[in-house]
Amino acid sequence: MTLEELEAAKAASLAEAAAANDAAAVEALRVKYVGRNGSIPGLVKAMKDVPKEDRPAFGKALQAWRAELEASLAAKGGGTAGEKRADADLTLPGRWWRSGVMHPLSRVIEETADIFGHLGFTVADGPELETKFNNFTALNTPAHHPSMDRSDTFWFGDDCLLRTQTSPVQIRTMLANKPPVRVICPGRTYRRDTTDATHSANFHQIEGLYVDTKPVSLADLKSVLAYFAREMMGDGVEVRFRPHFFPFTEPSVEVDFSCHVCKGKGCNVCKQSGWIEVAGAGMVDPRVFRHVGYDPDQVSGYAFGFGVERIAMIKYGIADIRWLYENDLRFLSQMA
Ligand code: PHE
Repeated sequence: MTLEELEAAKAASLAEAAAANDAAAVEALRVKYVGRNGSIPGLVKAMKDVPKEDRPAFGKALQAWRAELEASLAAKGGGTAGEKRADADLTLPGRWWRSGVMHPLSRVIEETADIFGHLGFTVADGPELETKFNNFTALNTPAHHPSMDRSDTFWFGDDCLLRTQTSPVQIRTMLANKPPVRVICPGRTYRRDTTDATHSANFHQIEGLYVDTKPVSLADLKSVLAYFAREMMGDGVEVRFRPHFFPFTEPSVEVDFSCHVCKGKGCNVCKQSGWIEVAGAGMVDPRVFRHVGYDPDQVSGYAFGFGVERIAMIKYGIADIRWLYENDLRFLSQMA
């Protein structure tokens, strides 16, 4: 191609660009002339066949052609990749990214740590694989208690099991620390339950333990749980204790919160009772203190344990425990 031919081709391309009147035509010209296999890059490649003395002028002319054509295509709304297209509808809504949300179980755990943090409790941790001593014996569980049965507990040999409760962290904490201790222990727990809407073989508990050398009473326990109830479920939630039995506390209670949905009047969430059971609790049994080397004449304390799923289900109105584990975005995105 001679320089004259080049100028003629350039003029033709600019005329085509001037005549292009929609985005598709502009794009077609971009592909035809400046695209990877377009005429201009083709001519650049063919420069080696141009006589040496003509090459500088030829190169300059090609550069100018490309610049002018690109400018005229850009003015028509074509333009190089990444630039806004003039034919884009600027009234369309922007794109959005769904932001993630914290899982309801994590949320309950974090909030609990926060609430008890204000009361001076720190978070303690323990392994999910426990010894029989920590999970049962030190917690004063009698040797033939049904909870130790193979049909209730996942055993790995005679001394190793998946913890059935977070209470073994009480034992670990007391074995490792002198009183006073004030901890909450969130974590996974395992029981051989058949899964249904309210049971799961793997669930979460939060244990609480307060032991001090000054007298600790059931009234202290009640006031702390009442504070927790209000912070977690909202003002006006009441706490009720019902006598119960746990091997590691004496006296033992089951803890109910007044139903936050009907405010205690009775509805289908609380099965018309006005109350929802949320926790087990009590004053630490002297035998537990002896197992960890504390002198029951010198110390006293309370312990409590509640189900994280339970709190999440009543707080967020979740009807089926399985929804908490299925990672279904239709469910999780409602937690925003
Ligand atoms: N560990 C008991 C349970 O799983 C709950 C509990 C904890 C009760 C601490 C009393 C004191 O049912």
